[in-house]
Amino acid sequence: MKILVTRRLPEKAFALLKSHFEIDCYDSEEAMPREELLKRVADKDGLLCLLTEKVDAELLSRAPGLKAVATISVGFDHIDLKACSDRGIAVTHTPGVLTETTADFAWALLLACARRVVEGDRFLRTGRYKAWGLTLLLGADVHGKALGIVGFGRIGQAVARRASGFGMRVLYHDSKRAEAGVEAALGVRSVNLPELLRRSDFVTLHASLGLGSAHLIGEKEIALMKPGAFLINTARGPLVDEAALVKALKEGRLAGAGLDVYEKEPELAPGLAELSNVVLAPHMASASVETRTRMASLAAEGLLDVLIHGRRPAHMANPSAATAL
Ligand code: DGY
Repeated sequence: MKILVTRRLPEKAFALLKSHFEIDCYDSEEAMPREELLKRVADKDGLLCLLTEKVDAELLSRAPGLKAVATISVGFDHIDLKACSDRGIAVTHTPGVLTETTADFAWALLLACARRVVEGDRFLRTGRYKAWGLTLLLGADVHGKALGIVGFGRIGQAVARRASGFGMRVLYHDSKRAEAGVEAALGVRSVNLPELLRRSDFVTLHASLGLGSAHLIGEKEIALMKPGAFLINTARGPLVDEAALVKALKEGRLAGAGLDVYEKEPELAPGLAELSNVVLAPHMASASVETRTRMASLAAEGLLDVLIHGRRPAHMANPSAATAL
């Protein structure tokens, strides 16, 4: 069996694949150019990819023998699931193993924005710190405030668990309400999106990008947010109308934003990089050594399950696909 691996993998994950497959690896830290991807996938049985590789009808038409796609990500909005399912291609992803790491990073962004950590760092490095100041870099308190979590799956709930240490009131919004036991254990309350936006000092996004969720936070929703609130996004860029966000930040209607993902990633909306009240990160919420190793290994196991063992992988994104599994 031949597989294409689109990026250099952690050694542990590569070792899982080595003895079972003939591996064609794009051995680089950079994303594989599209043309090369289309060329090299042509004779493969399996594809191990990242969210930077669009797996669409064009790619599938170039790879008639493809039977499995494993993405090293929990999100699979870069994959045309229907097209894969129609061709009997199993798609696997990596939920669960990045939950806590991603939740940690959402908090890192939230705290960095509220307490102006990055501005402080720049202030020092540019030699502007002369003496302790009573009003120097004043930020907003986090403890005791209201946190609004949009999307209450694994990651949203992990973010909520951390909020109790800050004594926060936690509201959440999700199309599916959590079980009463979960709500009680986490001390959270389910509300509709407008109410969440109106009542939260910090709004953090943990929804997936799917049909109808693009611009979930647009101009209208931003207008509902508390003046002086903060928006954190570690989910997917297109959930937010970035131009509307830039406008609200410029006008000072929102106090700040912490972003790990972008509407037209890796591009930033005009004006975003010039704002001092945003903390920008390059899609790194799951980027810990341990978690990225676990993600890559889980994706490798997904390919082994489908192609070598002929069994249903632990995390199949298209369970209704007409595969023989
Ligand atoms: C994912 O897994 O979908 C993240 O965006 C990268 O960790």
